Amino acid sequence: MLRRLAPVQPESFEFTPANLAWARAQMTKFPEGRQASAIIPILWRAHEQEGWLSRPAIEYVADMLGMPYIRGLEVATFYFMFQLQPVGRIANIQICGTTTCMICGAEDLIAVCREKIAPEPHTLSADGNFSWEEVECAGACANAPMAQIGKDYYEDLTPQKLAELIDAMAAGQVPVPGPQNGRYASEPLGGATTLSDQAPPVLRYNASAQAAVDLRDTLKRIDGREVPLRTPWLTAGEDVDVPAEIEPQPGAGIAVDATGVTVQEAQAGSPGRPAGAREPDAAAARLQDVDPGEATVRRQPAAEGGGRSEGGG
Ligand code: FES
Repeated sequence: MLRRLAPVQPESFEFTPANLAWARAQMTKFPEGRQASAIIPILWRAHEQEGWLSRPAIEYVADMLGMPYIRGLEVATFYFMFQLQPVGRIANIQICGTTTCMICGAEDLIAVCREKIAPEPHTLSADGNFSWEEVECAGACANAPMAQIGKDYYEDLTPQKLAELIDAMAAGQVPVPGPQNGRYASEPLGGATTLSDQAPPVLRYNASAQAAVDLRDTLKRIDGREVPLRTPWLTAGEDVDVPAEIEPQPGAGIAVDATGVTVQEAQAGSPGRPAGAREPDAAAARLQDVDPGEATVRRQPAAEGGGRSEGGG
């Protein structure tokens, strides 16, 4: 599918102050000169803020990362997750049209979208509140047919149920995501037939739907004030005293397998970001924000000859 920028573009783009702080923080995750590596999360933040990526937004992000605009455009046009045209003010409804959903009625759901939103996908409804598109398998085949609406999945849909969901959203409600036919998760409609001795669910909804209810950001555009900005890697070099009871301890040389790996945990330079023994000193020092010569690791040395090799154990 050819992906082009929308013919009508806004004049400019700016992050909200909180989203800008978040984006700048992401850039510090990468070594100096490699800030371009942050392009996907920062483009996605712009997408979450606006609902789609305009040309000014792509160029703004490319400028932030010191990249030629064409590099930003390449990334934005490659990934289908990035919408390149305005989407509905309330929601862009993504109907899965792949095999399982198709067999279970996806085409009827698409008919609802054509009737209630717009005859063609990637088109705004008359009031600008909704848009829709067909997407490929969203990985919820056991609950087909389904749609992703905003950040969450609405599953086990019928045409009538989808129409009701759209009406509810148009009225300012955020219906609970997850199965829409009374199932808790993906067990048989009549109830679980295996693992029936398991304890009953403790959450009212399944974990995904419960998270959506708790976070309440299903349809929300993200402005960055939703959660506090946390950047534990920026304080990774702070001289932290780790209480003895949580200090990783060697396993007294006891091998847990034939390779000689012991139960000792990897050495860690900080609670925020364990520094690997094989990392170049300079990289470790950069993380700790001190001179390479001053970088210190306040952990116990590995047991001689028996230390766990990072990444190989
Ligand atoms: S086929 Fe629709 S979620 Fe997999």
